[in-house]
Amino acid sequence: MQSPIERESWATRVGFILAASGSAVGLGNIWRFPYMTGEHGGAAFLIIYLVAIILIGYPVMVNEIIVGRKTNRNPIGAFKALAPNTPWWLVGALGVFTGFVILSYYSVVAGWSLAYVYKVVIATTTADVEHADVFVGHITSVWEPIFWHAVFMALTVGIIAGGVVRGIQKWVTVLMPAIIILLVILIIRAVTLPGAGEGLSYYLRPDFGEVTSRTFLAAIAQAFFTLSLGMGAIITYGSYLRGRHEIPGNAASVVGIDTGIAILAGFAIFPAIFALGFSPAAGPGLVFITLPAVFAEMPLGTLFGIMFFVLLSFAALTSAISLLEVVTAWLIDEKGWTRKQSAIVMGIIIFTVGLPATLGYSVLSGVTFPGLGTDLLDTYDWFANSIFLPLGGLLTAIFVGYIWGTKNAIEEGNRNARFIKLGNWWGFLIRYVVPVLIGVIMIMGIYDTFSG
Ligand code: PFF
Repeated sequence: MQSPIERESWATRVGFILAASGSAVGLGNIWRFPYMTGEHGGAAFLIIYLVAIILIGYPVMVNEIIVGRKTNRNPIGAFKALAPNTPWWLVGALGVFTGFVILSYYSVVAGWSLAYVYKVVIATTTADVEHADVFVGHITSVWEPIFWHAVFMALTVGIIAGGVVRGIQKWVTVLMPAIIILLVILIIRAVTLPGAGEGLSYYLRPDFGEVTSRTFLAAIAQAFFTLSLGMGAIITYGSYLRGRHEIPGNAASVVGIDTGIAILAGFAIFPAIFALGFSPAAGPGLVFITLPAVFAEMPLGTLFGIMFFVLLSFAALTSAISLLEVVTAWLIDEKGWTRKQSAIVMGIIIFTVGLPATLGYSVLSGVTFPGLGTDLLDTYDWFANSIFLPLGGLLTAIFVGYIWGTKNAIEEGNRNARFIKLGNWWGFLIRYVVPVLIGVIMIMGIYDTFSG
């Protein structure tokens, strides 16, 4: 086992914020958040999601960073270090497994984004193009999406094989500001399209009439996914922190950046959906159909379109590396593998596990999950985000709240904390609010889903 001393750590004070925001900001903000909001009724979902971020997302983010920094270990090793000879390491194992599943389909969607770097040229320069047809044509072909899924996985493996600091930290520094600038340009175009107002009111005026327990489950699933919580990615990144780095304030920055970018994405997409006559409930194709249509309406649209999908692919990459890093850190720490070996072997296995998700739109398009009625990619997504992530977050909260103890956690969390201090309020959230909310929402939401 590698000792914490030899372990790499973030090179600068902002290194962690950058890397953790790189993990958080990704397809979850720009691809998943808009279509979830569109499927669950707009503003009402947005509000429930924001409440989930504050009451569950932030305290759980702090919780996971604390466990990581305290132990300097991968998720499985972290639980073993804090509760030796108990079955709690299984929570870490659940996280490693979940990361596996998420990355396998995440890479498929990231592959769509890579393909759109050139598809968007067709979509913005062809007269009378049907944007939905371009997207459906792409995902229903067999080899093209597989090819891009492979390219994306290879990129992820390449960076992880390079190591934490050189590999991860470098990329996010440039990426984050560029994404924000491009989103702002898109928002300006979208809100000035004739008919955009209807989209704005859909996004901002809540109608709670449609809210069910499924809406709540979808909102906590989105909160966990977008903040990279519940599967040890943040434990792993926290494990590369040294004691002198602050936790509660850094966590607030990461949550703020991530939420801000998701909200911006909504402002770029909803006005456009209504102005251009699309449906907000288009599902996973939503941004791939809507945004190219907006680019087609812009001066220099092709150029902006290419830039956008390059950036989205990079954002996906900085998240994907955090997913692969969890599995890799575990193999290095616990099994003594080399970094290269683990990255390559895991990359190949995860690529293979993702194949059914991509074929779910072509050869396997008839296959749906009983009760859920979703295609394979949505099925991977549903189980990972509605079950495994909240469960991982819930169990980690129970572990810290009742086994390791919030007193120990607060002490560790407040070490060198300057901007925000943890107190009993945080202990209360971790011991009561987080477990009860997640527990109740999961039970009701799952029951509601399968009872039709
Ligand atoms: N947070 C990432 C996104 O929003 O795209 C996805 C993700 C990364 C989820 C890492 C979970 C994770 F551990």
